Amino acid sequence: MLITIPEVLTKDEVAQVRGVLDKSDWQDGSHTAGVQSAQVKRNQQLPVDSENAQQIGKYILQALSQNALFLSAALPLRFLPPMFNKYETAETFGVHVDNAIRVPPDGQQHIRTDLSMTLFLSEPEDYGGGELVIEDHYGAQEVKLAAGDMVLYPSTSLHQVRPVTRGARVSSFFWLQSMIRSNEQRTMLFDLDQTIQSLGADLGTTHKDVVRLTGVYHNLIRTWGET
Ligand code: NI
Repeated sequence: MLITIPEVLTKDEVAQVRGVLDKSDWQDGSHTAGVQSAQVKRNQQLPVDSENAQQIGKYILQALSQNALFLSAALPLRFLPPMFNKYETAETFGVHVDNAIRVPPDGQQHIRTDLSMTLFLSEPEDYGGGELVIEDHYGAQEVKLAAGDMVLYPSTSLHQVRPVTRGARVSSFFWLQSMIRSNEQRTMLFDLDQTIQSLGADLGTTHKDVVRLTGVYHNLIRTWGET
């Protein structure tokens, strides 16, 4: 399941974040790619240990921790710290799949990448090309969102960033390990949760069947969830 999470950051927050990022020192992105992806990766990244990257990354995770749609869709367990990249003219990232297991900068607990996120920090009209193309069971989907919006998609997907033809495409990208490993189970839980919320709005959240369904939802997480 590929889902757009609108307005993770407000336009004012995007402007603040961009103010910091635009003054930061960017480095060649191929340093942090795996063996296969290094051959197709042409972009710039902020060093993961940069203070700006760490500060803004915390700010983004804080915003996501209060985003009901995101929490319902992702059921996050652990995050890798958000990273930042920039594509200028002719920069691109060819078709690749992200590494399955990643080690956070603190070297502590390894994280399985279940879900990938890209938070757009440039307005679509400010650059040409630069679409994120994600292949899923329904074919290739092209994603180019407003600044502040985020796409969430299974890390199992092949994906690419088309060459930028003008301007600059700035975004944050990162991964999470979900409490629910299976994309299919996580998608069913998302549908169930959205349905419970809609029924709750129609019937009231204390209606006996809404309460029973809420119980089913939590019992499925209890059965399938990892902690
Ligand atoms: Ni990738």
